[in-house]
Amino acid sequence: MNCTILGIETSCDDTSIALYKNSKILANITASQDIHKNYGGVFPEKASRAHQIHIIPVLDACLKKANCDLESIDAIAFTQGPGLIGSLMVGCSFAKSLAFALDIPLIPVHHMQAHILAHFIEEPMPDFPFICLTVSGGHTQLIFVEDYLKMTVIGQTKDDAAGEAFDKTAKMLGLPYPGGPVIDKLAQSGNPKAFSLPLPKKDIHNFSFSGLKTAILYFLRDNEKINSNFKNENINDICASVQGTIVTYLLRELKDAVEEYKVQSVAIAGGVSANSYLRQELLKFGLENKIKTYIPAFEYCTDNGAMIAQAGAFLFAEKMFLDYKISPDPRLPFPEI
Ligand code: KG4
Ligand code: ZN
Repeated sequence: MNCTILGIETSCDDTSIALYKNSKILANITASQDIHKNYGGVFPEKASRAHQIHIIPVLDACLKKANCDLESIDAIAFTQGPGLIGSLMVGCSFAKSLAFALDIPLIPVHHMQAHILAHFIEEPMPDFPFICLTVSGGHTQLIFVEDYLKMTVIGQTKDDAAGEAFDKTAKMLGLPYPGGPVIDKLAQSGNPKAFSLPLPKKDIHNFSFSGLKTAILYFLRDNEKINSNFKNENINDICASVQGTIVTYLLRELKDAVEEYKVQSVAIAGGVSANSYLRQELLKFGLENKIKTYIPAFEYCTDNGAMIAQAGAFLFAEKMFLDYKISPDPRLPFPEI
């Protein structure tokens, strides 16, 4: 698309800004917030304060890397929701002020739709229709994608998200936040079949992780009664078994959706799509069933401004602009068309 879009992402704890120009991401700069490691999860007020501090230096670095000035931007895209309200407000207010000062359109973007559209940043891009398993710290969804902006939610979690299942397990094991990457790393030297954990029951295409979370809690508690050093002695096998159970569960639902919707392509998106076991098992499923599989580059799995700029470009083509009255929505519904 022939346009220049600035994408601003501040839904959680990463301040990320990217510049999209004529179908290419020229820069994608992210400032992460290490402070949350001390709290075992994102501390919302500290996240908003850090966005305030980071947002201008991140914009500056982005424009410098892209070798672009503010005057050449056609529109400002920003994450309207879902996310943490304080974090969203920083990005929304900043985007509004910038669009007003430059007298250019303002494009609100749905964070989870942007995770899916990250697949169109670079080749290989999925063919329509495809099913996308979107797995992040706040969401777990199965989406039937018929076109860039034509998507239907066919299943979602009723309680915790897949990322939360990783993060909460890590907390129980005394591992730092975010737990997903740490469990992924420790699991590489563990046996996924070492311990058997219950797979959640089928519920059409919906997910539930709360039962698994409780099962892990009891499993650890019962074993520690017998051996107080159980966690330390078995950390790799515990991580591999938990990861194996989560991935088996996610793929079971994805496979069922593929069969029901008769698609030839599947994709994964969101922070948990960085998980090495999920990526490996998805590839295996694709090869065994002659289904094309699409996995984003690591840079575009976790929160990033590039996916907001990319989504902004598709919305720009449809002139989906909003006026300055728009506010962020921490529970923004998925834009189904
Ligand atoms: O998409 P994301 O960056 O932020 C949200 O929109 O929530 O996802 C963050 C989540 C966290 O729960 C984190 O633990 C998880 O993604 N995550 C992983 C991995 N990398 C990030 N989970 C499992 N394995 C990983 N390698
Ligand atoms: Zn995300």
